Amino acid sequence: MCAHQKTKEKKLLTVLRGGRVFPPPIWIMRQSGRYLPEYHRVREKAGGFLKLCQNTSLAAEVTLQPIRRFGFDAAILFSDILIIPYALGRNLHFEKNRGPIMTPITEREIAKLDTKYVVERLSCSFETIEKVRTVLNDTIAIIGFCGAPWTVATYMIAGQNTLDQLPARLFSYLYPRAMQTLLNYLADISADYLIQQIKSGADVIQIFDTWAGVLDQISFEIMCVAPVRRMVQRIKQIYPAVPIIGFPRGVGQRYADYVRKTGVTALGFDWSVPLSFIAKLQKEIAVQGNLDPLRLVAGGRSLEEGVDTILTELGRGPFIFNLGHGIMPDTPIRHVEQMIQRIRGNPDNG
Ligand code: CP3
Repeated sequence: MCAHQKTKEKKLLTVLRGGRVFPPPIWIMRQSGRYLPEYHRVREKAGGFLKLCQNTSLAAEVTLQPIRRFGFDAAILFSDILIIPYALGRNLHFEKNRGPIMTPITEREIAKLDTKYVVERLSCSFETIEKVRTVLNDTIAIIGFCGAPWTVATYMIAGQNTLDQLPARLFSYLYPRAMQTLLNYLADISADYLIQQIKSGADVIQIFDTWAGVLDQISFEIMCVAPVRRMVQRIKQIYPAVPIIGFPRGVGQRYADYVRKTGVTALGFDWSVPLSFIAKLQKEIAVQGNLDPLRLVAGGRSLEEGVDTILTELGRGPFIFNLGHGIMPDTPIRHVEQMIQRIRGNPDNG
């Protein structure tokens, strides 16, 4: 099936239902953010990143900035995956050049976590989505999101960004029951949070499992696959038709296992995954990815080669163009424009 420029159609949804659209729909992870001068202005006005997430008019404004500037096919809610631990009462702030800082959670604190009214405390995200919905035209999808339980747990346990999530991995071996309790809490809260995002107008959901790739085989099953499956089941009970994109970064050939066992609708790939392997999975599901964000920083031939190779290998099936991870803050805007031109100007060779 090849859909061409029908009006009033969200290309992203056509693809996620298994259709082919060429040129493919485009959005990029972290598309609202520090590479945009207009983002810095609004962030300053809000008085900081966390305040910006909670100021729904300004959060809606930064959600829309990359759509206005680049004409992406999807808007992603402006918030952060750590808003859930924040709503759970964990202390959180963001430091320049260090990222998120939290007080590491202990085994005892996990047993005492109060999970009541957490979703209510996240109402800013729902309001932001409602505000975005009122101004977006009907061809642009809204993506809701949250972090996967494992990835959110890694920050709660370490209290900061680490290279390979050593503190959380060790914690899971030393205190497996506390870890399981935490993952189950996070899975249920996150699923309810996503259900409410859909109710507020999100067309699609993405679950970010940024740290799935550091787990060994046993832990991958227990800490990545099982909690995400639990979430997918809970969401599908209420919204069986809303597509869910899983992004288990860095899991290599386990991507195949992940999609089969979790029941997600589609997969987002990091740049290390071979395109021929992705193309095989694409026979069954829609795929998204996977340009190395550094090619976008570099621009020129490096960017063109990266884009062309991906389009050649994946453009024939249900495909969403994206980066393999978030856009880097020092990415020149000109390069983003060139990337989009290269994709949209590409002759339909299917
Ligand atoms: O994609 C979008 O434009 C929507 C907003 C969004 C943000 N974070 C805004 C943000 C989304 C979807 C996220 C997801 C997120 N947050 C992930 C998963 C995706 C990934 O990139 O791996 C993770 C692991 C986080 C946690 C987080 N938030 C970190 C580690 C950091 C610091 C490092 C960094 O990239 O800045 C943040 C801060 C953050 N989240 C910023 C933005 C725009 C920068 C805050 C600022 O303005 O200073």
